[in-house]
Amino acid sequence: MTAYEWDSSLETGHDKIDLQHKQLIAAVNRLLDSCSEGKGTDELSNTLEFLNSYIIKHFSDEEKLMRFYKYADFERHRWYHEEFKKDVRELTSQLLAEGPSEVLIGRVSSAIVDWLLNHIKGDDFKFASSIAPVAEARR
Ligand SMILES: [Fe+2]
Repeated sequence: MTAYEWDSSLETGHDKIDLQHKQLIAAVNRLLDSCSEGKGTDELSNTLEFLNSYIIKHFSDEEKLMRFYKYADFERHRWYHEEFKKDVRELTSQLLAEGPSEVLIGRVSSAIVDWLLNHIKGDDFKFASSIAPVAEARR
């Protein structure tokens, strides 16, 4: 499986948020690297453990920023975060119920990457562009 490349089309322009998005992509890449070394199933629970805690931190940081800027679409954006937290919890339950497998690794990596890339390019960009003029004005 090939690693996911970070590129400038994913940058929201907010250093903290971009850094956290990079960490999330890096976690998936670590999982895929372990797969190519034949250690993917060992790594899967570490990946899910990391994701469960890191997305809580990441989403809460994003939501703090949204509250600070009184972002109009905050509730909808937050709903997407909650849904994704549920998806990651669901994948974790699957791991506990079924044990690690190549199939589950595929499910985890594509669920995370698909969601994240869509979310960054859609909702996070919308938010970032809505606060950019305010941020500019503060300089
Ligand atoms: Fe978000």
